[in-house]
Amino acid sequence: MLADTVFQHQDELARMGDAQPLRKRVQEVHRVIQARYPFVTRVAVALMDEGTQILKTFLHSSGTGNPLSNYEASVTESPSLQEAIQLRSPRVVNDLSIFRDGAHVHTQRIWEQGYRASYALPIFQESRLEAIVFFNSPETDCFTADVLKDLDLFGHLIGHMVSEERSKFRVLMASLRTAIQMIHQRDPELGGHLDRMAHFARIIARHLNDLGIYEFNDELVEQIFQFAPLHDIGKIGIPDRVLMKVGKLEPEEQALMRTHTTLGRHLVDEITKTFGLESLEQKGILQSVTELHHEAMDGSGYPKSLHGDEIPIAARIIAVADVFDALTSERPYKPAWSNDDAFAYLIEQRETTLDRDCINAMIQHREDVEHIQKVFGD
Ligand SMILES: [Fe+2]
Ligand SMILES: [Fe+2]
Repeated sequence: MLADTVFQHQDELARMGDAQPLRKRVQEVHRVIQARYPFVTRVAVALMDEGTQILKTFLHSSGTGNPLSNYEASVTESPSLQEAIQLRSPRVVNDLSIFRDGAHVHTQRIWEQGYRASYALPIFQESRLEAIVFFNSPETDCFTADVLKDLDLFGHLIGHMVSEERSKFRVLMASLRTAIQMIHQRDPELGGHLDRMAHFARIIARHLNDLGIYEFNDELVEQIFQFAPLHDIGKIGIPDRVLMKVGKLEPEEQALMRTHTTLGRHLVDEITKTFGLESLEQKGILQSVTELHHEAMDGSGYPKSLHGDEIPIAARIIAVADVFDALTSERPYKPAWSNDDAFAYLIEQRETTLDRDCINAMIQHREDVEHIQKVFGD
């Protein structure tokens, strides 16, 4: 059965090589599944956060809107899923109406989108739960023993693809983090700056997604969050006499300092090449975060003097998050600004250098911003 399916669709399966982004590859597997089982109208992957028992929506393939995006929940909220994880076995629910009275947002939204049956497959990496692959259908009682035999294999294939991508990503992040730690030995931008600005960047990305201004799915939001602390990675190539100078930089020193943007981009290019990670979907975002976070909407930024929309949105987000935290932090050359002053400054920059929507996100989520300042205060 499965062999037939795989044979019929071997071209499609062959095209799922590493050159394609993970989301595309999952969508293609979904197409193959649907050719045989048209009633499997949604495939989704949730990732398990290491340590916290929090399950986060990650990617999905479905014709309709995603009922669960930018959503996280503790596994403990779903006893049946928790049990499946403990037993390391799939959870089959052939009639989702049994959860109808449940108050959980996730089951409600799945139901509202018309799904009536669910098959959930926990994916383990050795003893660690890495992800859960979900299959949903609008038909009840469709996940029969025969169907499940096939879906189990497809689910593991998807799980394997996700695990592989994640471990590549971990290699990349580990090498970049090492570089960051080396910079931190020398950079005055110490303390919670990177934690805070990464969280601000996440707030902004989610806000833009909620407003429908940009489509930031969970995966992208997560990437912005993870890449944000790497924005100044190019400073590794800046000599101590400039990087650690207390006081105003001379024009020549300033010019040198500004090269940290292009240096950062080169570093990302080198690392991805060395580790054979050039096809990694995240590379483009990482490149724009490192190279373009000092560009300005009015073209007055560097290194490329890009204007407005020419600046990738990821870089515009990082710029706002970075500037706000730089203002509100104490630096050797200046005291910390109050939040009122920093917000007033952002409002001024809305017309000139910084992205209007990103600034509005910070203003509208001031409470969250201040909470992050408390949690990651110096
Ligand atoms: Fe920078
Ligand atoms: Fe910074």
